[in-house]
Amino acid sequence: MTQRSLSCLIAWMVGASLSVYAQTPGAADAALADGWRAVRVADCARCHGKDHEGLAAPSIVGFARTQSRERFIAAILDGNPQMGMPAYRGNPLIENHIDDIYRYFAARADGRLAAGAMPGRD
Ligand code: HEC
Repeated sequence: MTQRSLSCLIAWMVGASLSVYAQTPGAADAALADGWRAVRVADCARCHGKDHEGLAAPSIVGFARTQSRERFIAAILDGNPQMGMPAYRGNPLIENHIDDIYRYFAARADGRLAAGAMPGRD
C-alpha cells in the first residue's frame, strides 16, 4: 500500500467513525425517548419501583451510574432468573432498543434527565 492510499484510508476511517458518533441533539433526544418508551411498555417499574430507583428490585439508575455499558446491557439481556430478573434476550422491544435504554438510564444517572421527565417533550 502506498503512503497516499494509506492516508486516504485513514481519512476515510476517521470520517466514517465521526459520522457514526456525531449525533445531532434531535437524534439524541429521539434515542432517549425510544429508550424511555421501551422501559415504560415493558413495565420495568413494576419490580424496580417508581422512577426505577428501587423497590423489590435494585435501582436501575444506580446500576447505570456504577457499571459499564457492557455490564448494564448483559444484566438486562441475560437477566438473573433465579433472583427474579427476567432475561430479555429475544424480546424485540428490549433487544432492539437496548442502546437507547442504556442511553436513557445513563442520562438519568448523570443528572441530564430528571426522574419522571419525559424525554423529547419537556
Ligand atoms: C419481575 C420483576 C422484574 C422486572 C419486570 C424487571 N426486573 Fe430488573 N431485576 C429484578 C431483580 C429481582 C433484580 C436483581 C437480581 C439480582 O439480585 O441479581 C433485577 C436486576 C436488574 C438489573 C441489575 C441491577 C443490579 O443491581 O444487579 C438491571 C440493570 C435491571 N434489572 C434492569 C431491568 C430493566 C431495564 C427492566 C425492564 C426491561 C427490568 N429490569 C425488569 C426484577 C425485575
